[in-house]
Amino acid sequence: EYNLSVVESPKIEAIIFESPTLSVNSSEVKPTLITLLDKAITTNSDFPVSALLFCKEGVVPGVNIEVSDWTKGLCGERVAISKAISYGLTDFDSMSLHTLKGEFSSPCGACRQVIHEHMPDNEINFYHADGTLSTHYTSDLLPFSFTSKSLAK
Ligand code: THU
Repeated sequence: EYNLSVVESPKIEAIIFESPTLSVNSSEVKPTLITLLDKAITTNSDFPVSALLFCKEGVVPGVNIEVSDWTKGLCGERVAISKAISYGLTDFDSMSLHTLKGEFSSPCGACRQVIHEHMPDNEINFYHADGTLSTHYTSDLLPFSFTSKSLAK
């Protein structure tokens, strides 16, 4: 009816992903996080969050991305983790995050679950709006956490 013909797609031997990583040394962490805050899309909350995920291969940035439907926004921490995993980077060393407002920069519950699953025994650095920094263990963010082991019969 539609006079269709079959066209063979060329075989793709390999898909090469360019690395999404930045090179950030220890003195550049805070200024990089602050610069990154400008990339956050915070139409609803005006609460930018930036995250740097330190992977074995380099540093993957993330920011929060809001959309018109408030419930569909993405958090900076999970953007960084998702981006890293989609590029095949899974060896995470630590994470740093920065907010511009609030008394204490701290990941939301959903981010804690994801952070804990992918980096359960790592350090996480919170750069607070007042210029101070605190360092924590990810295991302390989610005591008595739900894991896939909980699903075992
Ligand atoms: N947000 C993050 O990006 N990370 C968190 O862990 C806490 C909350 C974002 C979500 C939303 O875009 C804005 O901050 C206000 O909740």
